[in-house]
Amino acid sequence: MNIDAYRERNRTRQQIRQGGAIANLNDGIEIEIHGVPTRLIAWPGNGFQTQSVHVLTLAPGVESERYTYDMAEEAMICLKGGGEVFLRGRWVDIVPGDIVFYPERTPRAMRNPASNDRDFVLVTQIAPPEFGLYAPAGFYDQTKGVMVDDALEAAKARATSDQLSPENEMRLSESHPELRAWNLSVDEIRRDGALFNAYKGAAFGGLDVPMVLVLWPGYGVRSTGFHFGRMDAGQVAHLHSHPVSDEAVINWSAAATSTSTAPGCRPARSMSRSPPAAWCTAVGCRPTPASPSSRAGSPRRRNSTSTSTRRSTTTGRSTRRPGARSTRRQPPAVMAEATRHRSTRRV
Ligand SMILES: [Fe+2]
Repeated sequence: MNIDAYRERNRTRQQIRQGGAIANLNDGIEIEIHGVPTRLIAWPGNGFQTQSVHVLTLAPGVESERYTYDMAEEAMICLKGGGEVFLRGRWVDIVPGDIVFYPERTPRAMRNPASNDRDFVLVTQIAPPEFGLYAPAGFYDQTKGVMVDDALEAAKARATSDQLSPENEMRLSESHPELRAWNLSVDEIRRDGALFNAYKGAAFGGLDVPMVLVLWPGYGVRSTGFHFGRMDAGQVAHLHSHPVSDEAVINWSAAATSTSTAPGCRPARSMSRSPPAAWCTAVGCRPTPASPSSRAGSPRRRNSTSTSTRRSTTTGRSTRRPGARSTRRQPPAVMAEATRHRSTRRV
């Protein structure tokens, strides 16, 4: 099958919105955002409406601006190299496979120490998209509130490809336990963010393939999302759709086939291939409210004295203070052993 017709670079924004496309982390328009070279993979310029997915490449010595988003959550997965992120008020070193989650209005930044000898590469998800990021490059008209198709198409025609190495460097890491989501309450995660890892999550078998729910509403996440799965030869995932969300399925290793990688709610997708493949879903806005197949475990009751919610002495109903966020639910238990076992297999 000739897949050139399905390539993102060969389809218009409207065609992608209707039927999806096949993109590549090496391919796409590159601009500078917050002081960092940023490749635009999935974004409003190619039809995505509920999330943006970017690839950030920081050479040794590069540091981003410190910034926040008023409404969007942001999740960053370290793909290659390693570096530092500003999380929960301090700089933290992360390795490939680590995922950093920032709720809206939390300060963030990233840097690659000059002492490193490799690029620090991150795949980020911003949900919902921050349209203003694309205005300085001329891709978004802030006055009219529309994307500028002529500028988009011209930039796409000029875009050059990157050459990321094909090796999967991602691995399980449990460093900085005080920052890990599984050691924090939902309130704490929603307020200041947390550190996740692609190989550690709640087991989920809803699509007939082994998956872990990594970044999902069980941890208080609202609009970003990240699931990680692995398929053996011959396996076929369930056809499914998402009622609201766009979805980006990223193949981290091996190969796969899909009925569609379309954004939007209409297309369903399946995967079947020969060699084992590892993939993940990054769902923007309203992650699928799926229930993990693992036992959720006993909720912890940290922050039982939280001031974010108080019970009214007159009505008996809970009242929330202005500006307070989140529920007091606790994260589910994670399937560490199963995840660790999977992480030792080739993915
Ligand atoms: Fe999906």
